[in-house]
Amino acid sequence: MRILSGIQPSGLLHLGNYYGAMKQHIELQEEHDCFYFIANYHSLTTIQNADRLRELTRDVALGYLAMGLDPQKVTFFRQSDVPEVTELTWLLATVTGRGLLERAHSFKDKVAKGLSVNMGLFAYPLLMASDILIYRSNLVPVGKDQVQHIEMTQDMAGYFNQTYSEVFVRPEPRLNEAAVVPGIDGQKMSKSYGNIIELFGEPKPIKKKFMAIKTDSTPVEDPKDPDTCNVFALLKLMATPEELAEWDQRYRAGGMGYGDAKKRLVELYEVQFDARRDAYNDWKNRPDDVEDVLRAGGQKARAVAQEVMDDARKACGITTARIA
Ligand code: ADP
Ligand code: TRP
Repeated sequence: MRILSGIQPSGLLHLGNYYGAMKQHIELQEEHDCFYFIANYHSLTTIQNADRLRELTRDVALGYLAMGLDPQKVTFFRQSDVPEVTELTWLLATVTGRGLLERAHSFKDKVAKGLSVNMGLFAYPLLMASDILIYRSNLVPVGKDQVQHIEMTQDMAGYFNQTYSEVFVRPEPRLNEAAVVPGIDGQKMSKSYGNIIELFGEPKPIKKKFMAIKTDSTPVEDPKDPDTCNVFALLKLMATPEELAEWDQRYRAGGMGYGDAKKRLVELYEVQFDARRDAYNDWKNRPDDVEDVLRAGGQKARAVAQEVMDDARKACGITTARIA
């Protein structure tokens, strides 16, 4: 079973990325043939500064390696080390109706906000479909916001296969466990809302962020509702089920201040991420080793992509001179 997922290098990694995506990705490496890549071509739709893109690309690599991605088990690479994905994007564009892309939430949301939309943003689902189909991926673990893109990928695979011949495999989405991780202000944690708690932050500023998580004004003595509390939502991700059951009782019984629960979150963060910060810094000091990992992953991924691309070209009658 081939599992594939990508993450855009478009900001510092945060708890939403980890519990919403990376954690599952890393767990899956134990059982499956996983391909994970850093979607740097996708980031160009929003990050248009070369130094910044290089830095963010490196940061995603460091983040995955520090959190336990094992490059011996996973094919881990940069999207741009497989330039065939951009070629396949074009082939898919020619069998896909414009209406399909116009229905994409990611595009419609930007238009609704009055943002100017470049063609890259409009074509984003085509490039994503190409990422998935070029490795004949079976399962794509993603957050809820990406499911529509996978459904569009299924459609595009169908259009191509019907127009020409059965080249592509139909992928299925696999929803990550934590559907939405709340940020400090209670909205979805997202780099675009400035409400993130990052993965490798320094202890002091991180503590400050946890203590600033928005809660309601129920007095300490009164019972509290864990189901609507942002602090509890994070405890759910970070504490063991036994500990969570205790917090649930303490919330409902009253006599507990939100500050206690926040302090516990800080401790849990330290247990979970302190050692990882060291691993992050360790990889950061070995840029050549990081490059070796990505290069080896890229070569492996590209070999698969080239075969599928050959089939795709053949199917639609595109001939190329074999220039080595
Ligand atoms: P951001 O919202 O910060 O821009 P991305 O869109 O780059 O994050 O998300 C990268 C991955 O992390 C996606 O798979 C996405 O579903 C997941 N993710 C991001 N934020 C959250 C969140 N708050 N809760 C759950 N998953 C999230
Ligand atoms: N669009 C995805 C996101 O923002 C990133 C991505 C690009 C991706 N290509 C992909 C995810 C292919 C899964 C499969 O999170």
